[in-house]
Amino acid sequence: MRFTYVTLFPNLISPYFEDSILKRAKNNKKIEIDFKNPRDFTKNKHNKVDDYQAGGGAGLLMYPQPLCDLLNDLKKKSPHVHIVFPTPSGKPFRQIDAKRLAKKEHIVFVSGRYEGIDERVIEEYAHEVFSIGDYVLTGGELASLVMSDAIARNVKGVLGNENSLDEESFEDGVLEAPSFTKPNIFKKSAIPSEFLKGNHAIICTLKKEMSGLKTKYFRPDLFLRNVKGK
Ligand code: ADE
Repeated sequence: MRFTYVTLFPNLISPYFEDSILKRAKNNKKIEIDFKNPRDFTKNKHNKVDDYQAGGGAGLLMYPQPLCDLLNDLKKKSPHVHIVFPTPSGKPFRQIDAKRLAKKEHIVFVSGRYEGIDERVIEEYAHEVFSIGDYVLTGGELASLVMSDAIARNVKGVLGNENSLDEESFEDGVLEAPSFTKPNIFKKSAIPSEFLKGNHAIICTLKKEMSGLKTKYFRPDLFLRNVKGK
């Protein structure tokens, strides 16, 4: 899997790949990353990438030409890229999208800064437009990283133990059941006794019940959508 980040600030993104699981994945060539800067595609003297909003409005927007030249160049070199624009007005990014996108060969994340990107660029180039939550970030870089992390861990060979993908939150549309390790008693609170007896069928039933209850309590929206309807 290759991730290309189109950003004015590559240093916001690159350090994330210098540690832990994604560092290993990069070293093992399970994922490759690169960066393209719209400023390198400007044609004006001061390498300006932003301009005033048509019709007024606070803040500046990234204007089309540098981004379009950059994306045309990318598409010419890699015709099969999948282009994603993070923006607060996109559709919600979910685990099911992370799994689906993990099967792509090459994903391009286009990060806006200032007040965002001229809408016509998004219309012309976006295969998908995602929001990572109902809040506004200072730019698309963090959202691109969040999505690429969630996608990367679903790419074959990135996680050491692929079984861990089957039991985690959002598989089957529910939150993961609570899990415990040593000590058996911590601050007067004990691990559920069945967990210590080793009967895997009973533990599995118990975990399913806990997972349903946790989903109902913390995420009634998910519970109504996925559990009640079953
Ligand atoms: N850019 C700024 N805020 C964002 C959000 N919530 N999701 C995706 N991209 C963003």
